[in-house]
Amino acid sequence: MTLPGSPFLAYRGEELFLEDCALDALASRFGTPLYVYSQAAMLAALEPYRRALAGREHLICYAMKANSNLAVLQTFAQAGCGFDIVSAGELERVLAAGGDPAKVVFSGVGKTRAEMRRALEAGVMCFNVESEAELEVLSQVALECGTRAPVSLRVNPDVDAKTHPYISTGLKDNKFGIAHQRALVAYRRAASLPGLRVVGIDCHIGSQITDTGPYLDALERLLDLVEALEAEGIEIHHLDLGGGLGITYTDETPPGADELIAQLLARIDARGHARRKLMFEPGRSLVGNAGVLLTETLYLKPGETKNFCVVDAAMNDLMRPAMYEAWMGIVPCVRRDAPAQTWDVVGPVCESGDWLGRDREFAVEPGDRLAVLSAGAYGMSMASNYNTRGRAAEVMVAGSQAHLIREREDAAELFRLERTLPR
Ligand code: LLP
Repeated sequence: MTLPGSPFLAYRGEELFLEDCALDALASRFGTPLYVYSQAAMLAALEPYRRALAGREHLICYAMKANSNLAVLQTFAQAGCGFDIVSAGELERVLAAGGDPAKVVFSGVGKTRAEMRRALEAGVMCFNVESEAELEVLSQVALECGTRAPVSLRVNPDVDAKTHPYISTGLKDNKFGIAHQRALVAYRRAASLPGLRVVGIDCHIGSQITDTGPYLDALERLLDLVEALEAEGIEIHHLDLGGGLGITYTDETPPGADELIAQLLARIDARGHARRKLMFEPGRSLVGNAGVLLTETLYLKPGETKNFCVVDAAMNDLMRPAMYEAWMGIVPCVRRDAPAQTWDVVGPVCESGDWLGRDREFAVEPGDRLAVLSAGAYGMSMASNYNTRGRAAEVMVAGSQAHLIREREDAAELFRLERTLPR
C-alpha cells in the first residue's frame, strides 16, 4: 500500500513509521489523540519553493494559520522564512518562536486598531490591506504612532480557484480583498494618505488548488494592475502571489511548487517584470503532509447498514471532515493479518457530524491505534474544546528523536479562566 503525500511516512513490515519513529510506540509513550509532525518533511516541502526562487529577490512567508505550534514556527524561522499572520495573537507567536518581525506580512479583512498598533511597534514588513476603509484607519493609526505603515493591497482578481466553496477566496462574491476594478482607485487613495507607504501588491485566490491555471490567470490580472499603477507613478516593489497550493490527500495531483513557480516566472519575465521581489504565502503545502493524527480505537459497533469504529479523536481535534467533508486517509499504525472490513470512523463528540472518515477498509480491534494522514495543516490549529475535551498533545520527530512540543490539555486548564457567580 502506498501512502499519499510524504516520503517520510511508510510501513516498515507491518509498522507505520514517520521518519525513524514507530507511530504506535509514540502513541504508547505520549497517549492519544496525538499529533505527530516530521521536521524533515516540513523542510523538504520548503525546498521546491526555494529551488525555484533561487537567484531572485524573494521571501517565503509561511501562512502560520495552517499550523502555529512554536516549534513549527521555529523550524521555518531558522530556515529563513517569514510569516503570513492574520492576528496579533499570531504575531506574538512569531516573536515567541524567534521569528523576524521584519519578515512578517499581516493579512486579514478585520484587523483592529490595537492589532495595527502592535504590528507597527513590532515593525512588520507589510500590511496586506483588504478594504478601502481599512486604508483610512491604518493611516490614522500609523500617524498616531509617528510612523508610516508599509502597505500592499490584496486584490481580488475574480478568478475561480476551482476548490471547495469554503476555501475559495478570489471570486468577487468573497469577502476577501479589494475588487479588481476598484483597485486603481484604492491605490490612488493609499498613495495619497500621509500614514501609508505603498510597497507591493498581493492576491490569494483560495486553498487546496490543484491546477496552475487559476494562478496564471490571477498573475496576468495583477500585472495589468501593476503596469497601470506604475504608469501613474505609484511604485510597486513586490508581488505577493499568495498561498493555496494543494496537497495529495487521496488521488489529487497538484503541481509541485517548483513547477508552479517556473510557470509564473516565465510569465513575469515575458512581461518585463523580472526585477520585482516575489513573495509567496504557502501554508498547507509546507506542513499538510508532514503530520498525522494518532487515535486509539475505543469500541467497534458493527451494524446492519454501517459498521462504526469509535475512536478517541473527534471533530474537536480535527475539524476538516465535519466542516468541509474533507477526505483524509486513515490507516492502522500496525497492520493486522486479518480480513479488512468497512468502517465509519467516528469520535466521541455528541454530534452526527462527528466523523473522521466514512467507508474505510481495514482490519481493526479495540485498542488498535489508527493514523489520520495529511493532518499537519489545519488540524491542531482549528481544534476546539467542544464537549470540554482537552486538545491533543503534539510531538515533532526528527530522525529517531521525538520531542513533545505541546502538552495535552487537562480539564482544570480548560476552565481556568472561568468564574462562578458570587454566592
Ligand atoms: N494567505 C492567505 C491570505 C490566506 O488566507 C491563506 C489561507 C493562506 C495564505 C494559506 O493558504 P494555503 O497555502 O494553506 O492553502 N481551513 C481550511 C483552509 C483555509 C485557508 C484559509 N486561508 C482547510 O482546512 O482546508
